Amino acid sequence: MPAELPIPAEKMPRHVAIIMDGNGRWARRRGLPRTMGHRQGVLVLRPLIETSCEWGIPYLTLYAFSSENWARPKEEVGALMGLIEEFFFREVEELKARGARIRILGELSRLPERARGFVERAVEMTKDNERLQLNLALNYGGRAELARAARLLAEEVQAGKRTPDSIDEKALEEHLYTAGLPDVDLLIRTAGEKRTSNFLPFQTAYAEFVSLPCFWPDFGPEEYAQALREYASRQRRFGTLEAK
Ligand code: IPE
Ligand code: IPE
Ligand code: MG
Repeated sequence: MPAELPIPAEKMPRHVAIIMDGNGRWARRRGLPRTMGHRQGVLVLRPLIETSCEWGIPYLTLYAFSSENWARPKEEVGALMGLIEEFFFREVEELKARGARIRILGELSRLPERARGFVERAVEMTKDNERLQLNLALNYGGRAELARAARLLAEEVQAGKRTPDSIDEKALEEHLYTAGLPDVDLLIRTAGEKRTSNFLPFQTAYAEFVSLPCFWPDFGPEEYAQALREYASRQRRFGTLEAK
């Protein structure tokens, strides 16, 4: 039986990006340590991925750990690294079976060796999948991503592989972690915050932004559907005078 869609298929965004926020507050509200919020937040991922597949959303990008999050207390960073490891270890078979291909956005080299090993294994194991492109932003910073792209382009110029005037928006895009993927259509942030916290500055230039009040561990298919309904009600114009 086909899954019931919250909005018509032709209105579905191709690329959804999510700033998963509010794990700490979810836990504090219950008198629990913040790390319990992160643990609970990971449990939301499986239904989110399943629902994205069922609703025919082909690109999903999740902000899991920012390059600024290293500045949190050592214990919290350690717990988050442990959860990343656990997620990739526990979920990789399921992701593979579901048809998800994993790509990492961010600088993996700073991750602890064990976590990096599990992440790289998951990328390798899912590389032939095509149903859902699942991007996980790990040690990701948007400004760092742009600086990296500039560096890569400068190296190509220096090596005589391109000229400065060949550097346009497309060339820049091709040197981002998201090279080749479509722009973000819908950017969701939970926990009621209304900022983008250095997430995908280039890729979200024309994205619709939806802020939801729920904390991340409470984000389920109903909250997802609500964000999609809000998205479908917007008029996107891309600088023109017509709705597109
Ligand atoms: C989001 O939840 C998870 C990460 C940033 C890793 P937070 O940990 O930011 O939760 P709040 O915002 O403090 O409630
Ligand atoms: C953004 O959330 C990073 C992730 C969700 C991974 P933060 O909680 O770190 O962002 P700020 O500090 O509220 O801007
Ligand atoms: Mg937060």
